[in-house]
Amino acid sequence: MQSPGQGGCTGPAGEAAITSIMVLNIMGSGRLIDSGIAALDRALRAVLAPARTSRPVPGAETAPTQSLSEGERRVSAALMRVNHAGELAAQALYHGQALAARSAATREMLLAAARSESDHLAWCEARLTELASRPSLLNPLWYAGSFLIGAGAALLGDRASLGFVAETERQVEGHLDEHLSRLPPGDDRSRAILQAMRAEEIEHGAAAAAAGGVLPPAPVRALMRRTARIMTGSAYWI
Ligand SMILES: [Fe+2]
Ligand SMILES: [Fe+2]
Repeated sequence: MQSPGQGGCTGPAGEAAITSIMVLNIMGSGRLIDSGIAALDRALRAVLAPARTSRPVPGAETAPTQSLSEGERRVSAALMRVNHAGELAAQALYHGQALAARSAATREMLLAAARSESDHLAWCEARLTELASRPSLLNPLWYAGSFLIGAGAALLGDRASLGFVAETERQVEGHLDEHLSRLPPGDDRSRAILQAMRAEEIEHGAAAAAAGGVLPPAPVRALMRRTARIMTGSAYWI
């Protein structure tokens, strides 16, 4: 018969091991809660607070009110609303990916990219105001959906997650090219913003690929394109 304090997990070594596991569990839970709170804070700021830019809005040197007809103003506003929703979605993707990133270096890279997207968001927001328009009413939905997609991508590992960034930025570049061709000829302010964003999206994608990103398989890339089309199609009107 085994008396208390002898053998199994009840000896001093066993008690020390159990204590260590409990401390690690508490520390792990604490980190998880901290990360969750930080993610919620980032989400609320992105969706509810006015976006702030750390750099001047591109094209600020051109006249703020160009001679756009009412029809042209509506087209520009709709396109900039789509871009605004896209920038919010990009931030959400990177926030979701950062939450589930395996390495601190990947997490920091993703959060740095998200900060850059925050500047883009502010630029689009400023231009929407100039065009007497508004952001998409579905923005909370775009943020939540994109956050979940980003977190899901990160669960596949850092290389897959970085590859997801590279593919996202490649698709955004194509989408910006299309918008640049659809902007009314006289809308130099919006054009300057989209051109500056396009240059930085290319940088984000190249940095993710250089950091070891592995592109998602073709069916996932096609699914990403379809999902983006739903968002861009809706945000144009709503
Ligand atoms: Fe962006
Ligand atoms: Fe980007």
